[in-house]
Amino acid sequence: MSQLSPELYARLRDHGQEHLLFGWDRLSIEAQVGFEAELAKIDFAALKRLHASRDTAPAALPPRELIAPIPVRPRTVPAAVHAAGEESLRRGEVAVLLVAGGQGSRLGFDKPKGMFPVAPVTNASLFRIHCEKVLALSRRYACSVPLLVMTSLATHAETEAYFHAQGFFGLPREDVYFFQQGTMPAVDIATGRILLEAPGQLFLSPNGHGGTLTALAETGMLDELESRGIRHVFYFQVDNPLVKVCDPAFLGTHVTVGSAASSKVVYKEDPSEKVGVLAVIAGRCTIIEYSDMPAEMAEEREADGRLRFRAGNPAIHLFDVGFLRRVTSTGGLTYHIARKKVAYFDPDTERVISPTSENALKFELFIFDALPLADRWVVVETSRAEEFAPLKNATGADSPDSARQALMRLHADWLESAGISVPRGTDGNPEHPVEISPLFALDAKECRSKVSPQLLITGPTYLE
Ligand code: UD1
Repeated sequence: MSQLSPELYARLRDHGQEHLLFGWDRLSIEAQVGFEAELAKIDFAALKRLHASRDTAPAALPPRELIAPIPVRPRTVPAAVHAAGEESLRRGEVAVLLVAGGQGSRLGFDKPKGMFPVAPVTNASLFRIHCEKVLALSRRYACSVPLLVMTSLATHAETEAYFHAQGFFGLPREDVYFFQQGTMPAVDIATGRILLEAPGQLFLSPNGHGGTLTALAETGMLDELESRGIRHVFYFQVDNPLVKVCDPAFLGTHVTVGSAASSKVVYKEDPSEKVGVLAVIAGRCTIIEYSDMPAEMAEEREADGRLRFRAGNPAIHLFDVGFLRRVTSTGGLTYHIARKKVAYFDPDTERVISPTSENALKFELFIFDALPLADRWVVVETSRAEEFAPLKNATGADSPDSARQALMRLHADWLESAGISVPRGTDGNPEHPVEISPLFALDAKECRSKVSPQLLITGPTYLE
């Protein structure tokens, strides 16, 4: 049997967490060693503070009069701004950061969400679509574009194995980095005791995509980016197949403004849509998450009938590397607290308890809490049809079906802009599935320059 360090035992006792040692003697030596290492990493005092703040955190929104709609730049930019974005890509200053810690469970898919087959003709996965965009960019601008894939405990091994099996989708192996976000223990709402999944096993969950920042610093990724001369990091979520990876117009705006953190927005029309909203609070760019947005505020309208707080968050950002360095070396972000119903192992009764109401607090960091830390920032509009079709639900809005339709409509638009006739139904959806590989075209202009004017769409069509 391995002997628990007296120092760790004293810490557990002092913080009322001795129950975690239930069944210690019955664990194998390897399990004891592993569990001790896990316990040693926990900041018990910080968890205690988080538990104590459960009814007040995160800091409530300031009074309504201190919150203003965010100024948004139009999506068309002067040619010089576009060129500045392209120049930055050519100089190899840009890396892509894909957050992919989530599972496809809400889609009824028991693998990392990035592996979900979404393309309308080829069934290409989200990962393939994103990676081919990165590859196409690196070809177009003759530069290398490092791709950083942030995984979680749940998705790491399978994601890496998938990339290997798919030959990294053609990307140079040395340009693809995987790093794993951290985890946080869940605690009992009433007592603050850390929950166990089983004896010798903590109940852990991913620490939120804000964990990206800590993980970037802790895994040495930031050092690596700096040593490769990367100056800007393009950030997006795995669940959106439409995202314009490193959109030169967006990048050009970010670069010419000298912004530390830039964001795109899609306009919300439905006040209940589940997207965060960008707003200005105390002069700073801030995202109010949909779950924190008071209903009256979500429903406020301008004289012309549009929602006042309509700048929806598609989770597309550009961060300056110096800014990321500053944020990660100065205390990081503050945890959000969620109340959840979770089954756990109860050492008192020696049983797994499945509660009927919320019993646990889970702690998550949100990447967008970094935005208010930026002294210089800029917000740019994007079009939903061109850039935002997330996969969140199994059916209905924001589902694989709606994302596939959005992809087909967008690609049909590109073909029509090239003079190709695309048969469409009365709902505007193409009658035959159409799909354009990012390796064929990244946008309408490229599509026009490559597509054969003789192309006839009489069945499923794939351009590669
Ligand atoms: C998120 C945003 C919301 C935004 C919307 C756009 C938050 C808190 N809210 O909402 O403001 O309008 O996306 O689609 O993010 N992920 C991790 N690790 C984690 C948690 C999440 O990698 O610990 C990744 C997931 O893989 C996913 C993305 O982050 O790609 C978003 O997570 P999700 O839970 O789907 O966020 P939403 O509630 O939809």
